[in-house]
Amino acid sequence: MKRLLGFFVITLLTGLVLQSFTGSSAEATFDDAGPSVKFPKKVDAVIKNKCYGCHSAEGKSDKAKAALMWDDLAGLQPSMQAEKLKNISKVLSEGAMPPKMFVEKMPEKKLTAVESALMSKWAEKTAKKVAKKLM
Ligand code: HEC
Repeated sequence: MKRLLGFFVITLLTGLVLQSFTGSSAEATFDDAGPSVKFPKKVDAVIKNKCYGCHSAEGKSDKAKAALMWDDLAGLQPSMQAEKLKNISKVLSEGAMPPKMFVEKMPEKKLTAVESALMSKWAEKTAKKVAKKLM
């Protein structure tokens, strides 16, 4: 009976120690990458409407998926997030996305000036938050 109790205590302690380790590492990734990238409702709506069809698992173009996956953005390392956000700002300022060929066929997918400004502002603000993590 005593042996059984000892075994039980050891198992319990090991569990606690393990939990505290995994707990803290999960917290570190959360802190390092996660909260910097958030999608406010309005930004999320633009993404879902006008970008997500290509830059997500539903997309048909491997190039588009290699360039950007919205669902992965929040989980990337800060340096990768910074790069993606820079690219997003670039395509927005150039009016390069959605691609011209696509917009010619589906004019309703073109970003309005308001949508473009909204997303640019978000990308800049988010880039600043991410940059702080890189320091
Ligand atoms: C019809 C499909 C399609 C839609 C819709 C689309 N994209 Fe793209 N996007 C692509 C493709 C294809 C590429 C890869 C281009 C290449 O490699 O030449 C790309 C590349 C990119 C890149 C990487 C550019 C670079 O210089 O690395 C960014 C950033 C991007 N898209 C953002 C967006 C945003 C923001 C939207 C919505 C406003 C959007 N895309 C909508 C197809 C799409």
